[in-house]
Amino acid sequence: MDGKVLRIIEKHGNDDSKLLAILHDVQDEFGYIPEDAIKVIAKELGMKKGEVYDAASFYSFFRFKPEGKHEVMICDCIVCHIKGSERIIERIEKEFGVNMGETTNDGKFTFKVVEGLGHCEHSPVMMLDGKIYGDLTPEKAVEILRGCE
Ligand code: FES
Repeated sequence: MDGKVLRIIEKHGNDDSKLLAILHDVQDEFGYIPEDAIKVIAKELGMKKGEVYDAASFYSFFRFKPEGKHEVMICDCIVCHIKGSERIIERIEKEFGVNMGETTNDGKFTFKVVEGLGHCEHSPVMMLDGKIYGDLTPEKAVEILRGCE
């Protein structure tokens, strides 16, 4: 991994003003920003690891864990919201021990809240690995997710 990170830094130059561009490329390469990459970046740019981490965590775009095996998007746009998406979100967060936007510790799910999945007639709606599930209740959502391999 170090070689790939070094090549990215070389492309942008060992300059802390290029930190964000470097972080973007590292995330594109690995799908997230690995701890080891932060170490290499800090060393090469003459920064402290904490400074690199602080700069990266300022932007919600950067991830520090790989995406989960299953991507779950829960719609919280107006119609889904009126029909109870908030209760579904709360139940999932409790059941799986995560906040929206995070990946479960076992790497199985990454949960995201999105605005509009285009199936309002079946709201509240979630998308699991690209497939839509509608007319959800908190219980039904958890049951579907628990049924995932
Ligand atoms: S508001 Fe959620 S799918 Fe339309």
